[in-house]
Amino acid sequence: MAAIAKTLKPDAVAAVIIHVSEMVKIPQEPVEDADAERGKELYLERCASCHRFNASGEQAFRSPPLRDFPAWYLHSQYGKFKTGQRGTVQKDEDGAKMRIIAAMKTPEVDLQDILGFITEVADKK
Ligand code: HEC
Repeated sequence: MAAIAKTLKPDAVAAVIIHVSEMVKIPQEPVEDADAERGKELYLERCASCHRFNASGEQAFRSPPLRDFPAWYLHSQYGKFKTGQRGTVQKDEDGAKMRIIAAMKTPEVDLQDILGFITEVADKK
């Protein structure tokens, strides 16, 4: 991504921003067998301090808005923090925060419920 970003001139960046902001929102695929009520409790306990209560993200903490992404993507990225594919580069302070969270051994069922909650929030946005 960094390599691609460097090829864009400022006016091209502005054009891309306008194009993306005009894209039609695609409804989220529901997370099968997720208990979104339970997921909400888990999310508020473990994720909301950085990603905010409605998964809208927090610029001041540099934590992205999780509700803008499909569950499969969030699951895959969470796994990358867990295995060290993300967040291990020196000086990557943001990634390092998520490495700590992903190392907390959240059971798969908890993660699925959390993603179920985020998906529900995303569709109400
Ligand atoms: C201590 C703050 C903090 C907490 C708590 C936290 N996160 Fe994060 N999270 C971050 C930051 C900062 C990033 C951005 C990392 C980066 O830029 O590489 C991030 C990124 C992510 C991403 C990748 C999003 C993307 O755009 O690729 C996922 C998925 C994620 N967090 C899920 C979670 C979940 C699920 C929880 C709760 C179990 C959680 N986070 C709790 C700070 C936090």
